[in-house]
Amino acid sequence: MPAIKVTDLVFGRLQAPDLEREEEFLSDFGMVRAERTKNALYMRGTGPSLYIHVTELGSEPRYLGAAFSVASEQDLHKAARLEEAISGIEPLDGPGGGKRVRLRDPLGRTVEIVHGIAGAAPLPVRRVELNDGATRRRVGERFRQQRGPSQVKRIGHVVLVGPNVPGVVGWYRERLGLLASDDIYEGDPANLVAAFSRLDRGDEYVDHHVLFIAKADRPGLNHFSFEVEDWDDLMFGHQHLESKKKYEHVWGIGRHGPGSQVYDYWKDPWGRIHEHWTDSDLLNAQSEIVRTDRSALRAMSPWGPNPPEWFPSYGTP
Ligand SMILES: [Fe+2]
Repeated sequence: MPAIKVTDLVFGRLQAPDLEREEEFLSDFGMVRAERTKNALYMRGTGPSLYIHVTELGSEPRYLGAAFSVASEQDLHKAARLEEAISGIEPLDGPGGGKRVRLRDPLGRTVEIVHGIAGAAPLPVRRVELNDGATRRRVGERFRQQRGPSQVKRIGHVVLVGPNVPGVVGWYRERLGLLASDDIYEGDPANLVAAFSRLDRGDEYVDHHVLFIAKADRPGLNHFSFEVEDWDDLMFGHQHLESKKKYEHVWGIGRHGPGSQVYDYWKDPWGRIHEHWTDSDLLNAQSEIVRTDRSALRAMSPWGPNPPEWFPSYGTP
């Protein structure tokens, strides 16, 4: 039995020296400001969460952690009793209140276990009925749309890199109750070099992964990932970010092997990678683990460019 079972990824927390610049990037990326104080920026998507991305003001750009929710306050008490707890139960100071317990993972990074943040009314979404070879959904009208950013819906997953992949992956699966989706090894199946883990919501289908851990010499954040409305919406975002001529495109557009999402990766002004994705594989607690040799990974992607050489082990402090 895991120590606790997390129910969702709720937000990522970064530090940046300039909240205005971060908000500008995140707005161009397709999020909407939920709240901004002198010291912190809270951004939301169109889904029913008050916020999905937090940036605290600080002199150095830093990855401050990721927050997972639990189903009850009882679980917060359990979290506070773990040996990796670095706080007791404390109030969250963002919009919507709630409480948290902070844990330290084996990479030395903070994991927030949260409960009781108020929900929000979803925002209206621009949706397009797409015709395809099999189904005509949009008939008798002429298709005209305004350019603009993607509509980020929700946070989907976080990717961390560092040494000791088996130890880190084991910790997250054991302590937070995540399930193994795909394990990537090199040569010997015992030589785990990367792993995808998903939420355990029993029979309910969830994203292929909520967490990916990959091998690197030093611990860091590889990226945060956010679901957009659909395929068309992902292309809106690519066009919009490119049109600004000031953001660094990292990798995409393509379709992944494991997870099979359509992806597009961009850097924020301090090199923190943010991914747009749509159309993930959905698994439930009955789905079995797949083990793959790293050398076979690229061939699993049906289309799209190879990642930059530096990407798989990239991590920002
Ligand atoms: Fe990703």
